[in-house]
Amino acid sequence: MPAQTLRIRPYSSALGAEVLGVDLARPLDEGTWDRLHEAFRQHLVLFFRNQHLSPEQHLAFSRRFGELETYPFADGMDKYPELVEVVKLPDEVVSFGSGWHVDMSFREKPPLGAALYAIEVPPAGGDTLFANMHLAYETLSPGMRKLVGRLRAVHDSNWYLNLEDAQSRAYRGMKMRFDDPPVVRAHPLTRVHPASGRTSLFISPDYCGRLEGMSKEESAALLEMLEGHATRHEFICRFRWEPGSIALWDNRCVMHNALRDDIGARLHGKGFKRVMRRSTIKA
Ligand code: SIN
Repeated sequence: MPAQTLRIRPYSSALGAEVLGVDLARPLDEGTWDRLHEAFRQHLVLFFRNQHLSPEQHLAFSRRFGELETYPFADGMDKYPELVEVVKLPDEVVSFGSGWHVDMSFREKPPLGAALYAIEVPPAGGDTLFANMHLAYETLSPGMRKLVGRLRAVHDSNWYLNLEDAQSRAYRGMKMRFDDPPVVRAHPLTRVHPASGRTSLFISPDYCGRLEGMSKEESAALLEMLEGHATRHEFICRFRWEPGSIALWDNRCVMHNALRDDIGARLHGKGFKRVMRRSTIKA
């Protein structure tokens, strides 16, 4: 495919861009890959539509952005350990990835990013939200930037299991396991992007509810304020999926949240199935 057919269209003023005129199932020339990498650096999340990718093609696409890793909580697909099927069954309200988070923020080095590919999606709903954490940091007051620059948050791989709605969620469609010992690690509340050198706010509400050296109440007050600030409408975008859509996000400066808005499942126990495939790119 010649590089000039590719078009990059910003998706919101905060972050994200749609990539048009590219078929990821076909070999792309190096000029096209360079433009995709540049667009990823600039927009932090890339969206593609109408793609038809086999598991091998999905993995090959993801590998252009880095080495892949397996996901600690879920078994990969048969023959493709680095691809996880993210399934929400029609009677489930909470899907995997509901709630704002940075993937595996409890790791010493959380992943670089992930590529999520939609196989089956509801006729409406099941969107994913993305938040630009550079903007979240840069728009704090100087006083608050100074404060967060001195604090560390405790990230716990099992934190979300304690949340009420997580206990009620089934995750039956996925091959989940929760018996790993929890990983608990403190990270500064800010981090610097290794490629751009830009600072971002580093919170991950699904995994962190405590600040080092602060009480539960103090931690909750500050973390809730920061989450509310980071996820203001003007700092996020909302992606509506279609079968064949792909989102590739930079986990080093973006939080995301799979909306739990299956109203049929919530009210009557009968909603929609949602099936995605996800690869995780190592930092
Ligand atoms: C995830 O957090 O990886 C899942 C996001 C989604 O399914 O929209």
